[in-house]
Amino acid sequence: MTHIPPILTGDLVPEPTSDGSLTFFSEDFGEWFHSRAGARTEAQETYVQATGLVARASSSPVRVLDVCYGLGYNSAAALEALWQVNPGCQVELIALELDGRVPLRSLHHHHHQGWSPPVLNTLTLLANRQEVHTDTLTAQLLLGDARQTIQTVTDWQADFIFLDPFSPPHCPELWTVEFLAQVAHRLAPDGILATYSCAAAVRSALQKIGLYIGATTATGRKWPGTAARWQPDTLVPLSQQEIEHLETRAAVPHRDPTLRGTREEICDRRSQEQSVSALKPTSQWRKKWLPAKEKE
Ligand SMILES: C[S@@+](CC[C@H](N)C(=O)[O-])C[C@H]1O[C@@H](n2cnc3c(N)ncnc32)[C@H](O)[C@@H]1O
Repeated sequence: MTHIPPILTGDLVPEPTSDGSLTFFSEDFGEWFHSRAGARTEAQETYVQATGLVARASSSPVRVLDVCYGLGYNSAAALEALWQVNPGCQVELIALELDGRVPLRSLHHHHHQGWSPPVLNTLTLLANRQEVHTDTLTAQLLLGDARQTIQTVTDWQADFIFLDPFSPPHCPELWTVEFLAQVAHRLAPDGILATYSCAAAVRSALQKIGLYIGATTATGRKWPGTAARWQPDTLVPLSQQEIEHLETRAAVPHRDPTLRGTREEICDRRSQEQSVSALKPTSQWRKKWLPAKEKE
């Protein structure tokens, strides 16, 4: 049994962010979809710029895996950036999303004004038909729990993976060692994965599955994001503060051996592992590194 209702019933409340692009608040997950500093800016900086995607525009095909497609900003920003540099760039895009209402509702709210016609056309077709085949794009939107839909992606690896679930406390099922191993299995040998999260549990999970990690800059967020690759080169090294965070109990990762665990099961398992962990208490790290106002 999973905690995720088969039909999501909570409202998706639209709200403008600081760069003028719209985001939603998810009542089902109790969280905003994007940084309030700018949904579109976040897609551009945390995913497109952080992965160096544009440098690949001249070497088609470019393969992109968008984990948690949502309103489609990350995919759209990637397509826009590639086609601006090379309109003939061939792209293969696979996107995973639980809630088919989200991409449809975003079109309804005209979230995508400002994208070029080919990108807007892609967003429209993906929302309505879940697939696109043109001269320059093969794209699929796989609707359902990403823990299951990712297992249907076979014989295919991405050059770029955008990992954008809700935060670990709100959506632990998409940050587990087991799910991230499924994601990493679809990362090409010279590919790069980017996420906004710098949670120690997320970073240690990525390391446990054999990836090297580095820091990225994240728009409107207090903390950096994370990039991961199979080789350490080109990654920005973690700061001493970030390295020491990984030596604390905050770095005990979430686990979901069946890839069907409930949120409660996943969190309880982690709490039990933390309670017997030989790692340092995170309170010591906070005392050393975080100014008083950030501790709350
Ligand atoms: C932070 S939002 C992603 C925002 C998105 N990247 C964008 O550009 O709009 C997280 C998304 O994850 C989706 N999601 C939540 N649980 C999921 C699951 N188990 N499998 C797939 N998608 C999931 C939510 O429906 C939501 O659209």
